[in-house]
Amino acid sequence: MGERLIDLRTDFTTRPTAAMIDAMVAAASDRPGFGLRDDPHVRALESEAAHMLGKEDALFCATCTAANQIAIAASCAPGDALATDATSHILTSEGGAVAAVAGVTVRPVPATRGTVDLAALAAAMGEGDDVQPRTRMLVLENTHVRSGGCVVALAHQEEAARIARDAGASVHLDGSRLFNAAAGLGISAARLARDADSVAVSLNKGLAAPMGAILAGSAEFIRAALRVRHRLGGSWRPAGIPAAAALVGLRTMVDRIGEDHRTAKALAEVLAPLNGLRIDPDQVQTNMVLVDLDERLGPAVDAAQALASRGVLALPFGPRRLRLVTSYEVGAADLPVIADAFRSFAASA
Ligand SMILES: Cc1ncc(COP(=O)(O)O)c(C=O)c1O
Repeated sequence: MGERLIDLRTDFTTRPTAAMIDAMVAAASDRPGFGLRDDPHVRALESEAAHMLGKEDALFCATCTAANQIAIAASCAPGDALATDATSHILTSEGGAVAAVAGVTVRPVPATRGTVDLAALAAAMGEGDDVQPRTRMLVLENTHVRSGGCVVALAHQEEAARIARDAGASVHLDGSRLFNAAAGLGISAARLARDADSVAVSLNKGLAAPMGAILAGSAEFIRAALRVRHRLGGSWRPAGIPAAAALVGLRTMVDRIGEDHRTAKALAEVLAPLNGLRIDPDQVQTNMVLVDLDERLGPAVDAAQALASRGVLALPFGPRRLRLVTSYEVGAADLPVIADAFRSFAASA
């Protein structure tokens, strides 16, 4: 409604597709289930998601933060430690839930764009005895959001998982954008999730569902996760309406996700030559572009405001860095408009 804004801040502001709206309207007339796992739409979503991710079972969660934190609390005991990249979403952006919800401490591992240092990981996994916290879990993130959607290579993920497993720890994959990572690597989501005991995937980002995330794993893991989800107030009922939309997302939006990557690449190519903007072409691997601003263009918050007044929404992602995210709502036709907004802002600064 109203003035056309091109929203590049994130991929979760995508609106549901017409097919999702139809599915939600139809689901609204169906009788919801009563028990924790009774709703027919939720069951259909969970079963199809489990199949796509190559896992025995799956649980529909309200957010990917919830899915990650349920996985951690279901796999670790209070006082345990987990190892993860020091810039991972579970550490930087989930409100301290690792400590507050699961009572777990963290052994941060140095990493480059989500690719953890394997020697440091091996050292972190080996720590723990009767005195020190035991490292019981490895959490990987693919794609890696802080680096602007970079993909962690499959061979690296496999090796990291092997190190964790050899140390007796479980592996959780924060695959909020797992389908982007799989498309970036040219493999199936199930293949990418194979090394993980549990995997969390957002339904509301590239897949454009109005809300929700999936947590998948073994039947035994999901039984434990169900209990944690309930304890946290996450047994949302009736959830058939959002589940029906999310199922359409799984069925119709996965195969097109590579288009968002091509749009992001094209966007980077259009913006890179503009005066005052710097873009690392190696960073643009999936659906995000990080734009560094020369000092003369001022702080990123001011730049975001200036761009918003020109109809383009960008996210400040550091003092002098903007993040631009593509989704099915942004296409090739938008690129000249975005470039014009940046050009006009850079000329006025
Ligand atoms: C890597 C990663 N994990 C988890 C999340 C959390 O997702 P949600 O906003 O659904 O809690 C995000 C959100 O952007 C993310 O990028």
